[in-house]
Amino acid sequence: MEIKVKSGGILAEKADAAVFTAYEDEKLSGTLAKADKALGGTLSSALKSGEFTAKPCETMLIHANGAFDGGPERLLLVGLGKRDKFKPDTLMRAAGKAAAKCRGASLKDISVSLDTAVEVEPADSARLWAEGTTLALYTFDTFKKSDPKKKEIEKIIFLTHEKSDEHAAKKGVEKGRAIADAVCYARDMINAPANEMTPTVMAERAKRVAKQYGLKCKILEKNECKKLGMGAYLGVALGSIQPPKFIILEYAGAKKSVRPTVLVGKGITFDSGGISIKPSEGMEKMKYDMAGGAAVIGVMRAVAALKLPVNVVGLVPASENLPSGSALKPGDVVRAMNGKTIEIISTDAEGRLVLADALCYAERYKPAAVLDIATLTGACVIALGDLAIGMMGNDAGLIEKVRDAGEVTSERVWELPMWDEYLERMKGDVTDLKNVGGRQAATVTAGKFLQEFVGDFPWVHLDIAGTAWEEKGLPYIPKGARGTGVRLLVEYLTTLK
Ligand code: BES
Ligand code: MN
Ligand code: ZN
Repeated sequence: MEIKVKSGGILAEKADAAVFTAYEDEKLSGTLAKADKALGGTLSSALKSGEFTAKPCETMLIHANGAFDGGPERLLLVGLGKRDKFKPDTLMRAAGKAAAKCRGASLKDISVSLDTAVEVEPADSARLWAEGTTLALYTFDTFKKSDPKKKEIEKIIFLTHEKSDEHAAKKGVEKGRAIADAVCYARDMINAPANEMTPTVMAERAKRVAKQYGLKCKILEKNECKKLGMGAYLGVALGSIQPPKFIILEYAGAKKSVRPTVLVGKGITFDSGGISIKPSEGMEKMKYDMAGGAAVIGVMRAVAALKLPVNVVGLVPASENLPSGSALKPGDVVRAMNGKTIEIISTDAEGRLVLADALCYAERYKPAAVLDIATLTGACVIALGDLAIGMMGNDAGLIEKVRDAGEVTSERVWELPMWDEYLERMKGDVTDLKNVGGRQAATVTAGKFLQEFVGDFPWVHLDIAGTAWEEKGLPYIPKGARGTGVRLLVEYLTTLK
């Protein structure tokens, strides 16, 4: 899909449909009022009768029947709800909904006026439209026979009122697209079945991103990990014939002296539970247990595409978690890179094991901050559902910044307590730690476990177990992998100076 920006009037621009936004309980104004007049009052009649009320994401598509000579053949109105409730996400949702509606009607080119009814700068508006439409039109159809009748939108034209806004709008489109493309890249990895997204394939994807965007990429093989003492991570990999791959991506956008932000993503390409095997019902979903790792690779791609003036390192300990004759067993003891010993209570608590060694490894970068992201606990799904990412950390300043980024992107996070008493449950009888601390507060105890491998740096842990997968479909998030965390972390990194 091509996205173009130009200045001019939308009613004179040829398109299959011109998209307009409208607020609830407000009269038509500006260009829309003009269009209504040309249509003999069709729009205002629909509003008056209550057929269209401009509720968030409500749409109405009408034919212009030649009313705009050489202009749009149809008008699509999309609601923004009440003006005082408006936030950037409202516009992104409306954009996503409008794009999906146009595709559903097999429209090929659509036009959007960037300055109708919305109090956002043309640059921001352009970004939100580009991001929302690109994210909404994402499909994962690698395994479906292509439907010849299905038509994709070929072109979207964004129009600015003033010529002087064109440049800023173009920049906004670039930004929105770079971020949305990175989210879709992550979604592709997550949606891919585990037999096609092994640790080796994940490492190949990371290498491809590095090559395309000029990042440094290094893959630590099993033997190197062994030399480094990553006994927890390698313990998880024991059950699989797929070799583990510890993926490292490095982006340098600032001076060498600037401490990097290190991102760590859980990369379990399939979590069967191992010997502590999971119930078979729903187990197929556990292909998305590498969603944190995919998000990290997506963020690295976006950060490089946007040329952000920061230094960022991405670490993805990738492995399968399978049962076999060589697999880790309950009662086994492993030793992590920092020397701490862990008794395995459940081989299904494998995420914290791979993250433990990755957090130890992060230390060598003398990081400004470390943020890890993982589909870590079923308890997080119970606590927060699919609406919020569980957040824990050791630094109030960092926590606040991540929370703010969550509000801006609507990838909202919710902080959980990190009191020391919770750690008691994770202490081992014969080891320093055990990998499970009972059913109570399981998201928090997992966070406390991770903290035992965190060096002297600000750190935040993000549990995306409940938010990584979309069951129903949302305006700009189709069913399946959401790509959670990419937009959140890119926003966080954008706020660093
Ligand atoms: N990958 C799972 C967590 C998960 C559950 C992610 C549901 C997405 C949806 C993780 O490895 C796991 O199995 N956690 C266990 C830990 C328990 C054994 C302490 C859990 O939460 O049940
Ligand atoms: Mn597990
Ligand atoms: Zn897992």
